[in-house]
Amino acid sequence: MSFKPAQWPRKLRSQAWYGGTSRDTIYHRGWLKNQGYPHDLFDGRPVIGIMNTWSDLTPCNGHLRELAEKVKAGVWEAGGFPLEVPVFSASENTFRPTAMMYRNLAAMAVEETMRGQPIDGAVLLVGCDKTTPSLLMGAASTDIPSIVVTGGPMLNGWFRGERVGSGTHLWKYSEAVKAGEMNQDEFLEAEQSMSRSTGSCNTMGTASTMASMAEALGMALSGNAAIPAVDSRRRVMAQLTGRRIVQMVKDDLKPSDILTKDAFENAIRTNGAIGGSTNAVVHLLALAGRVGIDLSLDDWDRCGRDVPTIVNLMPSGEYLMEEFFYAGGLPVVLKMLGEGGKLNKDALTVSGETIWSEVSTAQNWNEDVIRPVENALTDQGGIAVLRGNLAPMGAVLKPSAATPALLKHRGRAVVFEDIDDYKAKINDDQLDIDETCVMVLKNCGPKGYPGMSEVGNMGLPPKVLKKGITDMVRISDARMSGTAYGTVVLHTAPEAAAGGPLAIVRDGDMIELDVEARRIHLDISDLELTARLAEWTPIHDIPESGYAKMFHDHVEGADTGADFDFLKGCRGSAVGKDSH
Ligand code: FES
Repeated sequence: MSFKPAQWPRKLRSQAWYGGTSRDTIYHRGWLKNQGYPHDLFDGRPVIGIMNTWSDLTPCNGHLRELAEKVKAGVWEAGGFPLEVPVFSASENTFRPTAMMYRNLAAMAVEETMRGQPIDGAVLLVGCDKTTPSLLMGAASTDIPSIVVTGGPMLNGWFRGERVGSGTHLWKYSEAVKAGEMNQDEFLEAEQSMSRSTGSCNTMGTASTMASMAEALGMALSGNAAIPAVDSRRRVMAQLTGRRIVQMVKDDLKPSDILTKDAFENAIRTNGAIGGSTNAVVHLLALAGRVGIDLSLDDWDRCGRDVPTIVNLMPSGEYLMEEFFYAGGLPVVLKMLGEGGKLNKDALTVSGETIWSEVSTAQNWNEDVIRPVENALTDQGGIAVLRGNLAPMGAVLKPSAATPALLKHRGRAVVFEDIDDYKAKINDDQLDIDETCVMVLKNCGPKGYPGMSEVGNMGLPPKVLKKGITDMVRISDARMSGTAYGTVVLHTAPEAAAGGPLAIVRDGDMIELDVEARRIHLDISDLELTARLAEWTPIHDIPESGYAKMFHDHVEGADTGADFDFLKGCRGSAVGKDSH
């Protein structure tokens, strides 16, 4: 840790709007006074933007306005001036074609909002999957002092005496209906039990993973990730976060001070220990690109390979985020990583202290929820990065969510050219498929879908499910929901729509998966592969206008985080010209 707090008092960037007596200053200050703010609030104290992803259409973040009030209380207490700012909210469960298509748009919006406004520090109020990475990316590109507070997970779902995990049980129950083990009325009855309270998904899905990533990176106060949305301690956390950001501004503690390579390595190892979502791969790669940290898929494999999954949460395990919180939450996991030599202990956090000083006294209150290493869910919890002629730029698989017997498998390809082709064929009993086959789904990557949808864990054909089979090897250039599971190869790069080798797989080809050897191979000759690639033409729609065109033209591959080429890097907080 080499951070030295800046001198205080000093002139802050908000004074370029609010300081002095010029006509422009009176314009900026006077108009804001229509909200009833006294003159002395513009005296040079830190102006804190509470970047709020609340939206009625982002139900996971539906309580964030209430939480923003607690953040404001903390900011006031610490002598700051809080201003709540709505920012683009990419809802996972409603946005079409997929929320991921809007992560970069949201990141761009928050970056410009922070830079173009009189904000000295930002509280990133997030929750649902894409809201966390998008705001982190935007804040990183301005490098204005920023801190994350998440909305927290929902309470446990319960249905007929069984824990119901957000998303995880949606997939399970829908497969049970297809297999004839559950009827439609029961499925409908289970619906309400999936969302018992406000908050984000209660599994270790992408929202909980990204909350954990923010904490492991050092961008949120210790203990933030697991507190349930409705727990009074969530509101306390929001208030403490409001207090803390004021001091961060005074100290000039910026994202670039915190988001170091050490911090990313800590996050990758944490992802392995918690059995986190594969979506963290694309989000952390993109975030690293914003701060100029050289992070690659190889870092994911190197850091995560020997990290056991110790958090027994769905989809890899049995419990839910509520129990993770009661067991001690992420600080316990970080402490265990540190004790095992798998934590860069000196990494700086938003507290101004090292991560080790934050977690070294954590206690585990339930060793069935946070398992001792000797009793881990799996010894290799990290994300496996696969390469081969089918994925020359890489593909990922989450071993903790896969069937061990399928981690080494050779099977006949059954190909779906795109998601519509899959939907048209999958329920057809004439489809030539059995459980030994490898399902291949194309054109679902960043350009192909567009947005790289979470369809990689495509449901199995009913005729296989009816035999009691619950998993098959599946390969695609799509993503998978963090709440999902299965032996699923994802993020295959280059994607099919960009002419990657996935595009030329044909029905009947043989495919070999060997996770231990990190290999994914299409069993055809190099000559044949080259000839097929030479014949390939894209089949996905290429947009002609609007955001969809910008997305298609500028989105990069999953192997580097699917950011826009022109958004990489930190552009800083300087505004350029004044508008008046
Ligand atoms: Fe919003 Fe899961 S759908 S957190």
